[in-house]
Amino acid sequence: MGLQNTNPTTTVAWRKLQNHFSQMQNNSIKEMFENDASRANNFHIKWNDFLVDYSKNNINQETIDLLLELAQEVNLKEAIAKYFQGDLINQTENRAVLHTALRSSKDKTILVDGKNVIPEIFEVKNKIELFSNEVISGERKGYTGKPFTDVVNIGIGGSDLGPAMVVEALQYYSNHLKVHFVSNVDGDHINEIIKKLNPETTLFVIVSKTFTTQETLTNSETIRTWFLSRKFGTAKQEDVAKHFVAVSTNIQKVTDFGIDSNNIFPMWDWVGGRFSLWSAVGLTISLAVGFENFDDLLKGANQMDEHFSETKFDQNIPVVLALLSIWYNNFFGAESEALIPYTQYLQKLAPYLQQGIMESNGKSIDRDGKMVNYQTGTIIWGEPGTNSQHAFFQLIHQGTKLIPTDFIGYVKPLYGNKDHHDKLMSNFFAQTEALLNGKSEEQVMEEFEKQGISGEKAKFLKPFKVFTGNKPTNTILVDKLTPKSLGSLIALYEHKIFVQGVIWNIFSYDQWGVELGKQLANSILEDINTSEIKKHDSSTTFLLKHFLAK
Ligand code: F6P
Repeated sequence: MGLQNTNPTTTVAWRKLQNHFSQMQNNSIKEMFENDASRANNFHIKWNDFLVDYSKNNINQETIDLLLELAQEVNLKEAIAKYFQGDLINQTENRAVLHTALRSSKDKTILVDGKNVIPEIFEVKNKIELFSNEVISGERKGYTGKPFTDVVNIGIGGSDLGPAMVVEALQYYSNHLKVHFVSNVDGDHINEIIKKLNPETTLFVIVSKTFTTQETLTNSETIRTWFLSRKFGTAKQEDVAKHFVAVSTNIQKVTDFGIDSNNIFPMWDWVGGRFSLWSAVGLTISLAVGFENFDDLLKGANQMDEHFSETKFDQNIPVVLALLSIWYNNFFGAESEALIPYTQYLQKLAPYLQQGIMESNGKSIDRDGKMVNYQTGTIIWGEPGTNSQHAFFQLIHQGTKLIPTDFIGYVKPLYGNKDHHDKLMSNFFAQTEALLNGKSEEQVMEEFEKQGISGEKAKFLKPFKVFTGNKPTNTILVDKLTPKSLGSLIALYEHKIFVQGVIWNIFSYDQWGVELGKQLANSILEDINTSEIKKHDSSTTFLLKHFLAK
């Protein structure tokens, strides 16, 4: 039922890739372009409204062939089938990984423990639709009979990042509801949000798969106390039911909190937190942009699912991008990847994918329980262009580290401001060109001549002005930022995560690494509450003493 266990470094393809790497490592991408006029034509994929150009990479056809051989040797095809059909591929938690089922069509049958889950998925979707429509239209009202004006999503990690990213990304499609996100247990965070709210007209959506997360429970309790406080309104205990709804798998705990059973939106243990925005965790998205747009987001993701599961690998966007990432991570030793969307709307995409990518593939034990002897999860980071150009691009252009970068851009802007958009996109194209070509000594000297710089000054300045170029990039050019295209884009990266996890022979869908810190925080909280410092290392004891003395 699980995935095939293969240490990728023992495959024939891996050995061939190592040899191939020694021939490629000092290659000039620029020269490969000069020698082959059809390079862009050979290394791109067109799909729906996406154009993915991966020609600006240090690859040739042999690289792609060998990477595809690697995918074949680890049995990626079979793994994809298992992923989509609900096999228990999350073996350490004995669960299926079925976020793809959440966006699949009504006529599909997807079995979990012998039961088709599609009908219950659609039941919850109907509930989301009904509820969103009632709140948006004003039919559903607060305890004083006023329609809702504000929605607060209370959750953290996967119960926050996905909805927060999508609500920000789709704000062009939003309605009158003002949407806020409370995640951090930092009391200052919640206070800054609360001060903008009126309890009479605010709806609270508590999102927690487990309903045991310290941050979310603490924030929910603080908000409930605030809601019931005479200082701010006249709400009584029974009014909590009108203003608080919850998304969770833990129905008992939600009911104990005082939430009306009609106001519970269930989810399932086969939906991982960081892949859950397609479930009722996306309720806040549906409230912010309306159910139709939420459903379009799901449809876009479903289209990418179909592309991923049905397209042969050399034309398969998530597969190709995952393999390229393996090429740099495991052969070139690149430690991180940057993600640069040329739209301010996607400013939360990198933080969102940081959880998706790093919580999933930040593992060092393989599926046989052994320590891996190769690199796994990449570090992901990024910010929108052009802002990032004025912040950290210097390091990508002239630093010592290799940072493969994905550029994401849109052909059409949403407001049609052509002047701005042409300037934005000329930067988008210019950066990948600059990263590819760099600037040669000759070009620098030519510039100096034009600027009247010569002699000692020119000699001194020259090395600083030369750019080596040869920095790999992928360009993902999409027609327009719509709910559908956003759904496809997110699903693309989800599947890239999956492919990499399969090749690295790790379990991508658990997150045991975050548990230890949670346990220790609970025990330190006890120390703080009792002012009795238990046994810690001397640094932690020293710091706690300082904290408690103030
Ligand atoms: O701390 C990690 C984590 O378990 C994430 O995987 C998850 O998205 C987040 O905490 C929140 O969990 P929950 O939805 O159960 O509150």
